Amino acid sequence: MDILYTIFTCIAILLFICVTPILVLIIRIYAGKSIRNPKYAPVVGTVFHQLFYFNRLYDYQTEVAKKTPTSRVLGPEKSETYTTDSRNVEHILKTKFGKYSKGKRNQEIIMDLFGKGIFAVDGEKWKQQRKLASFEFSARVLRDFSCTVFRKGATKLVSKVFEFSLANQVFDMQELLMRCSLDSIFKVGFGVDLNCLDGSGGDDNEFIKAFDDSNALTYWRYVDPFWKLKRYFNIGSEALLKKNIKFIREFVDELIRTRRLQLEMKQDSDKEDILSRFLVESKKDPEKMTDQYLRDIILNFMLAGKDSTANTLSWFFYVLCKNPLIQVKIVEEIREVIGNNMKDNGSVDDFVACIAEEVLEKMHYLHATLTETLRLYPAVPVDGRCADADDVLPDGFHIRKGDGVYYMSYAMGRMHYVWGDDAEDFRPERWLKDGIFQPESPFKFIAFHAGPRICLGKDFAYRQMKILAMALVHFFRFKLSDDTKEVTYRTMFTLHINEGLQVLIGVRTNKPKHERKLQAKGIFAEDGEKWKQQRKLASFKFSARVLRDFSCTIFRKGATKLVSKVFEFSLANQVFDMQELLMKCSLDSIFKVGFGVYLNCLDGSGGDDNEFIKAFDDSNELIYWRYVDSFWKLKRYFGIGSEALLKKNIKFIHKFIDELIRTRRKQLAVKQDSMDKEDILSRFLVESKKDPEKMTDLYLRDIILNFMLAGKDSTANTLSWFFYMLCKNPLIQEKVVEEIREVIGNNMKDKENVEDFVASISEEVLEKMHYLQAALTEILRLYPAVPVDGRCADADDVLPDGFHIRKGDEVNYMSYAMGRMPYIWGNDAEDFRPERWFKDGIFQPVTIQIHSISCWSTNV
Ligand code: HEM
Repeated sequence: MDILYTIFTCIAILLFICVTPILVLIIRIYAGKSIRNPKYAPVVGTVFHQLFYFNRLYDYQTEVAKKTPTSRVLGPEKSETYTTDSRNVEHILKTKFGKYSKGKRNQEIIMDLFGKGIFAVDGEKWKQQRKLASFEFSARVLRDFSCTVFRKGATKLVSKVFEFSLANQVFDMQELLMRCSLDSIFKVGFGVDLNCLDGSGGDDNEFIKAFDDSNALTYWRYVDPFWKLKRYFNIGSEALLKKNIKFIREFVDELIRTRRLQLEMKQDSDKEDILSRFLVESKKDPEKMTDQYLRDIILNFMLAGKDSTANTLSWFFYVLCKNPLIQVKIVEEIREVIGNNMKDNGSVDDFVACIAEEVLEKMHYLHATLTETLRLYPAVPVDGRCADADDVLPDGFHIRKGDGVYYMSYAMGRMHYVWGDDAEDFRPERWLKDGIFQPESPFKFIAFHAGPRICLGKDFAYRQMKILAMALVHFFRFKLSDDTKEVTYRTMFTLHINEGLQVLIGVRTNKPKHERKLQAKGIFAEDGEKWKQQRKLASFKFSARVLRDFSCTIFRKGATKLVSKVFEFSLANQVFDMQELLMKCSLDSIFKVGFGVYLNCLDGSGGDDNEFIKAFDDSNELIYWRYVDSFWKLKRYFGIGSEALLKKNIKFIHKFIDELIRTRRKQLAVKQDSMDKEDILSRFLVESKKDPEKMTDLYLRDIILNFMLAGKDSTANTLSWFFYMLCKNPLIQEKVVEEIREVIGNNMKDKENVEDFVASISEEVLEKMHYLQAALTEILRLYPAVPVDGRCADADDVLPDGFHIRKGDEVNYMSYAMGRMPYIWGNDAEDFRPERWFKDGIFQPVTIQIHSISCWSTNV
């Protein structure tokens, strides 16, 4: 009986211990909150709702705000009013500024991380820091210094992105922007080069991680009712936060010590950065402005400057990936505004140096796009104040002393009653009138806060974002690595993209001036009479029956070799790069068809050929490198670094091709009129006899190089995309197989034998492969081998759509973008659908670009 009694007592005590705090919490949440009183905003939940919806908190708030612009959430101590009404926002941030403060709860939560910095303090302390910082931010010297720092940052960022693009590597754009932004804020704020971006900063990785994690863990406190208990016992999230804060403090303390020492040594020099100003100031009042006080200031500036601009830029690039047309419009604006200011089209340094303040001011469309990004993805998605006295908001709802009043920037951007019916659409045009940016009321566009505590770094942030955006968009094309993956935020102080922004980069070929060295005087580089001559000859050759038969034979041989090669991989169950294989196969074919020579790249038995391909590809890459290498001309002059390598490669290529021409010439001379004139080079060689002065070996070499450029990459790339799509659409793969079976059917003597199968692919067979032709055409529609192409106007002109073109302007057509336009291809423009090319099972071509410079080798 005693045992039973003891067990019963223990259970009762345990239940009491567990249940009592919960009961107390529930009573504290619900008691004395005037829940049904209509004078107060309607209650939509408790803090536990926010905990429940934590991962999608801002979207949950948006759903609530669509129904009730102002609502209440019940907390253990007080109510928290959330609003999207801009009248309320103006009221708390400006009209009744003195009645609202950061509040005790807010301060308690953020104090551990942000100490007594500008974000956390109110009253006199805030005034003092604001006055000093405002003075610095408005100073011309800081503006100039910061622009120099941002430009350097932009140059570094372009080089870094270029490395990824060369390696065709997916990377996290947000992380790169964070690093770049951190480097800039450190340099401007504290005169220190962190070198986070190039990774040479040692401890920096750990520091960024500790800083970001502390940010997220501090934010967690807002929805975790037990955080104080956890801090007291130093357990769970609080133990981790404490460890991170310790690391951060040590890092920043070291920074201050070093800067102080540097300043003492250099006396009056080097005082462009904000920390130096505060350090000088601290000498006047060393007791108040201790190192700890300065550390808080640093952390607050870091919080303000690091995440906000980097996050905004990350969302900006996300939006550009989703809206390629906006990306193109920004590129056009950059060209229009920078235009003739740019000394040399190719160098990053020259380009970045052109981004002067006057240029930034003229970038209205970019400004509108960044602002539209902030409207829908505000860096601070929710912000608020605490009522220091009872009050009534302009919408009539009462507020009790101690209650929190929050404005929801993220939700506000999506409210029809604030921005109209298209509130949720991304439309930079809403900010423009006659092409000029039109600002909105800061209480409606609230991303930068408003009133006396409006963001101090607004202009600073726009300058930084515009410089970085201009440099990146000018040189690169951005694409999400996985379009189907949902991109969302991580709930913390600032609107972070969860798991980063994974992108793939293409280099934007603005004006391929540098490429011309490799292409020299081939058909791609020529206009006018020279082009006509080459085109005439080439067109003639490509339409000749003899060439068609010859090329089909070569392609069949290539196919047989390719099948064997792929078969080897399949036997070894080995992953391999299909694109590389296709490139090699394509190169073999183009050499044989074009110049009667077997390179044997595919099976790797070609000796010199591997070296040749390497030299050719490397030269291509090294020439692109000139776009970002400001010293390329100097390096070429002195024959050093990348330019020395380029020179060596070009020499090798020229020697290789010269040898090719010589050999072919000899062979032709020996064999006279007999066989072996099926290839294009032979035709040109025969032709050259008529006009040996004009058609020199040098001229022929350029022709060869141009045919290589045309033939090597374009078909191989198209086929690579074709196989990519077949992998993504197994049904289409099946349909192609069925068509092959249907068309070849009985013609195929032995299904197991590659040579027999390939031999049966005659011209008649190819003509019957309508579905395959449609699938390949559909690939070229969505993944055109040349995604943007254009011409330069040699005289003033008017386009059919009525827009005027000035002499010297470039007119580009965007094949890649065109393939995705619903107004050209219908609502399913972005879908891969070979069936769109069919009528009654027969391929139906669509004539889009019909003028003399269409690709002459379509059938080949
Ligand atoms: C896109 C970029 C930025 C956005 C969206 C942004 C937004 C904001 C917001 C919402 C606040 C109000 C916080 C509060 O008191 O509740 C704020 C304050 C502040 N911001 Fe920014 N900010 C950005 C960039 C910057 C930068 C780059 C700096 C400086 C390096 C900066 C410096 C400050 C400072 C010092 C405050 C405190 C002002 C005060 O309390 O008096 N901001 N910012």
